[in-house]
Formats: sequence, structure tokens, C-alpha cells
Amino acid sequence: MTGQAPILAVRDLVKRFPAAKGAQVHAVNGVSFEIAAGETIGLVGESGSGKSTIGLLVTRLIAVTAGSILFGGRDITTLPEAEMRALRAEIQIVFQDPWGALNPRMTIGRALDEPLMLHTDLDAQTRRKRMLEIADRVRLPRASLERFPHELSGGQLQRVCIARAIATRPKLIVLDEPTSSLDLSVRAGILQLLEELRKETGAAMLFISHDLETVELVSDRVLVLYLGSVVEQGPTEALFASPAHPYTQTLLSANLPPDPEAKLARHRALGEIPSPINLPPGCAFASRCPLVLPACREGMPASHELGQGHRAACLRIADGSNRLVD
Ligand SMILES: Nc1ncnc2c1ncn2[C@@H]1O[C@H](COP(=O)(O)OP(=O)(O)O)[C@@H](O)[C@H]1O
Ligand SMILES: [Mg+2]
Repeated sequence: MTGQAPILAVRDLVKRFPAAKGAQVHAVNGVSFEIAAGETIGLVGESGSGKSTIGLLVTRLIAVTAGSILFGGRDITTLPEAEMRALRAEIQIVFQDPWGALNPRMTIGRALDEPLMLHTDLDAQTRRKRMLEIADRVRLPRASLERFPHELSGGQLQRVCIARAIATRPKLIVLDEPTSSLDLSVRAGILQLLEELRKETGAAMLFISHDLETVELVSDRVLVLYLGSVVEQGPTEALFASPAHPYTQTLLSANLPPDPEAKLARHRALGEIPSPINLPPGCAFASRCPLVLPACREGMPASHELGQGHRAACLRIADGSNRLVD
């Protein structure tokens, strides 16, 4: 990065939720990353790995347990809500379920006007103009502005949510599984739109998905999350071409087409993802890792640098014994 502060920088982010009997859910356990303007970071991991929690933390929709969030170089970790309000226009989130995200009794036009009313002091006429521009931009038919959410398809509703998110020209957009609830046939169109918007707006994007293929398609860099810890991260191409952490290898091999020439052998994940309630010390993947060493259970392995910001936290990498082969 050329001296410019990243749009988003999170350091050692921790989130614990209270659970029954005074126990705690260790949802996010010390996650750090940065996103530059115009960059898309893909956040992948199985269900329950803490992806959505990270999205809610960085948009300050929930409070952190520990760690820090810098937005444009400014520490917003515990910024009071009154001051956060002024920043809401610049930090937007799109959720998986567009049906749940929209008020069923509000027309699409009003839903699009709402963020402009809340976050700008534009007059009604200017807002109307901006709204039409944005509707066109996300390829929503103008006739749909008079309609109610139940009259639109899922793909159109997600376009409405994306339009709402970009209406205030944010610098950071979190997309939490934005295509996961949509028919396969409309996903590509939404991804294409997001790609266009990224180029046009220069917004930083955090793209959350459990779907590796989608993440590979849209991301400049990828973070692989396992039980609230980033086990591997790197430029998309490098990470997909040579995944270093045994967990990433397992994840990618489960996703491979059944090709006998495929570079990676397929691996069955060993057992279930453990409960995040009582996390043992050491590598989060140790209980399922075919290559586990006694030392893996003793402390969190340090991140091993593989070049160009490709890093993985696995003790096996140092001597090259991290490869899973059948
Ligand atoms: N509000 C909450 N209260 C208690 N536990 C929660 C809450 N939100 C999430 N969790 C737990 O935190 C972990 C991470 O959840 P989440 O961030 O939703 O994962 P993902 O989005 O990767 O599926 C899960 O074990 C989940 O059950
Ligand atoms: Mg989620």
C-alpha cells in the first residue's frame, strides 16, 4: 500500500457471546486484516466459523469484546453511537436474505429513498434523481419502484438491497453471502453487478461466503476462517493454486470436480467442527487435522510467510510436511 491508510484495518478482533450456564461462545478469536480502497477481500469458512460475526463487528452493528477497528485510519472500535451515525453512510452491509432486509409495507422506491433521507441532506427532487440513477445502475426496472417487496423476485430484491447499500456512496461494503439465498440462474448477474460496482465506486468490499467458487471469482485476497481464527490468507490465485494449511487443502479438495488428474487428492474432513464454547488451546483445526503433532495442541502456531502476503498458521509448513496426499 502506498502510504495511504487502508479503508478498513482490524487488529486482533475478538468476539465472545454469552452462552448457557455462564459459558462463552468464542465466535471470533483474534482476527486481523486490512482492506484497501477498491479491493475485495473474500472471507470463507464453514457455517459457524464466525464470518457473519466479523461482518457485524466491522460495521459496528455489534460491539467487540476486544481488538480494534480502524476505518480510514480512525479508531471506531468504541465510537459512541451518536458519532457512528455520521459514519453509517460510509459503511454499508448487504445480507444474505433480501426478503428479511426490506420492510414488506414499504414500496421499493421508498426503500431506496430511505438511506438518502437518513444519511444525506439532499432535497426531495435531488434524492429522486439519485434514486432513479441508482435503480438504473443496478438494472431495476423503474416500474418496480412503485411495487412492494413481495411483488419482486429474489434477484430483484437483492438488487434493491445493493442499491440501498451504494446509495450513500460508501467506502466500505460488507456483503454477507449476498447470493447464497438466490437461484443459481440469477447469481451470476448479481456477482457481475458487484464487480462493476467495485470498479466504479472504488469501495472496499468484504465478501463473505461459504462458497469457494464464488469467493475465488470475486476476491483479490482471501481469508480462510476456521472456528473464529484465520488459518490462511493470501492473494486469491496463490491461495487457490497452492493452499498450505491442511484445513484449506481439505476445504478445496472437497470442492474439486471428480477429476482423477486433479492436483489435490480428496480428503474427508475428520469428524465434526468442534464447539466454539470450550475451545482447546493451540491450533483450532488440531482435532480434525490428519497431520496433527503434539505441539499443535500446545499453542497457536505462528503464521508462516509463503510470499506475497500468502500466510498460513501451521507448524508443518516449515519442513514442507504440510501436504495432504492420499
Ligand atoms: N448472538 C449470538 N449469540 C450466541 N452465539 C452466537 C451469536 N451469533 C453467533 N453466535 C455463534 O457464533 C459462532 C459464529 O457464528 P457466525 O458468525 O454466524 O458464523 P458463520 O456466519 O460463519 O456461519 C457460531 O457458533 C454461532 O452459533
Ligand atoms: Mg453467516
